[in-house]
Amino acid sequence: MSDELNIMEQFKNFGQGHVFDHWEFLSEEEQVLLLEQADSIDLSEIHSLCEGLDAESESLDLSNLNPANYIKRPENGGDLNEWKDSFKIGNKALIEGKVAFFTVAGGQGTRLGFDGPKGTFPITPVQHNTLFQVFSDKVFRAQELAGKKLHWFIMTSLLNHEETVQFFTKNDFFRLDKDQVHFFSQGLMPALSPEGKILMEAKGLISMTPDGHGGALRALVKSGSVEFMEQEGIEIISYFQVDNPLVHIADPEFIGFHANAGSEMSSKMVVKAYAGEKVGHFCSLEDVLTVIEYSDMPYELARQKDDEGDLLYKSGSVAIHILDREFIKRIGSGSDDACKLPFHKAFKKIKVLGTDGESAKPDEENGYKMEMFVFDALPLAKNPIIIEALRADEFSPVKNAKGVDSADTCKEDQLRQWAGWLESVGIDLILDETGLPMTNFEVRPVYAASKHEFLNKWEESDPKPIIQENTVL
Ligand code: UTP
Repeated sequence: MSDELNIMEQFKNFGQGHVFDHWEFLSEEEQVLLLEQADSIDLSEIHSLCEGLDAESESLDLSNLNPANYIKRPENGGDLNEWKDSFKIGNKALIEGKVAFFTVAGGQGTRLGFDGPKGTFPITPVQHNTLFQVFSDKVFRAQELAGKKLHWFIMTSLLNHEETVQFFTKNDFFRLDKDQVHFFSQGLMPALSPEGKILMEAKGLISMTPDGHGGALRALVKSGSVEFMEQEGIEIISYFQVDNPLVHIADPEFIGFHANAGSEMSSKMVVKAYAGEKVGHFCSLEDVLTVIEYSDMPYELARQKDDEGDLLYKSGSVAIHILDREFIKRIGSGSDDACKLPFHKAFKKIKVLGTDGESAKPDEENGYKMEMFVFDALPLAKNPIIIEALRADEFSPVKNAKGVDSADTCKEDQLRQWAGWLESVGIDLILDETGLPMTNFEVRPVYAASKHEFLNKWEESDPKPIIQENTVL
């Protein structure tokens, strides 16, 4: 049987034969594309996901839930010597080239509503540098400090891959070497009707969307990135999202704690701002470190206080992780069913082919998008640890066009952070009551990517820079 007939037969056997209903009306080119799409689908995976698809999600049994332990920062009661030792260990790993950076940039950024990959969104207050340039500058700075070329992996999706690569090419890779930046696309999953049928966007097109940031683990393996890491002696992967320019991508302390604990996956937490804040909660469920999504966390639990009057479940997840290469290999290769990330379903309005032969987005939700989440890997990891980060230092995501977590709030948070750094070297800017300076300026990561680096750089500078409107350090 030809490949073509074989694929069609399999779809029929799995009750998905309708995908090829319009086959004879498609052009040769459309047929090739449809076959390619079909061939990329794991039908037995879809089959198992379809079972109980329209059932209500089971609520989690939280009877054995406790707050997760985490390593406190020294200023909040943590052991300063431990932090200093971790710095040394992490720094050594960076200098030895054992660390690589990894950005997940395959999302669709629907809330931001920006025309183009989110990484190409301008975000700094003076130079309006894009998110990708900010991270490129951070990689540049990190390798300058390490004295060694460090690799950077960027996950795109088929929907934004070309544009992302072109953006880097057009900008000459922001002074990085072309061979140290590695792009690969994540997987796509077909959208499913409540009855478990694969939805068609057009006669020759299956409706497919990115398989979530958890798809990163599979994609790192499938793309050959893990194999490349092995050849290069890269053992530790610093994971961050494309929409948070504050993230400290080469944090020696974080890397050191991770390595010292023999952890396979470690995460940063920030103290939740308020009980109902929409972040995942690091918890211990049946003694296993787990992230409970805000939607799964009953408000009565989220607002519980401890003896000191703080929120009991205070550890918010900010999507900053470190993963071991071998852990990624174990989970991403899918060889062990017990170690697979689960899929989460989201009921959405999905553009589909109508009975009139036209494609349209319905007024009501009509199908499920299936996504994996990277934090679901945490319970599968050996010796996972959580360390505390300061929100003002590390977390200001660009999610929305306006209001909370928007470009405006992110620019202000960058300014507040830099004003804090300046304050610690004795430069007092005029600030409003939230710590926002009245002066618009910018500290590029190639000058300093963290407070620690800033203090060193400032000390070395002679004469000291003067901070005025639109100064760029
Ligand atoms: P979000 O969950 O904020 O989704 O992604 P998003 O697609 O960027 O934005 P919305 O929800 O459509 O508005 C958090 C991070 O995970 C990446 C995103 O690129 C972002 O860095 N991501 C998300 C992927 O890489 N792939 C995905 O399938 C989903």
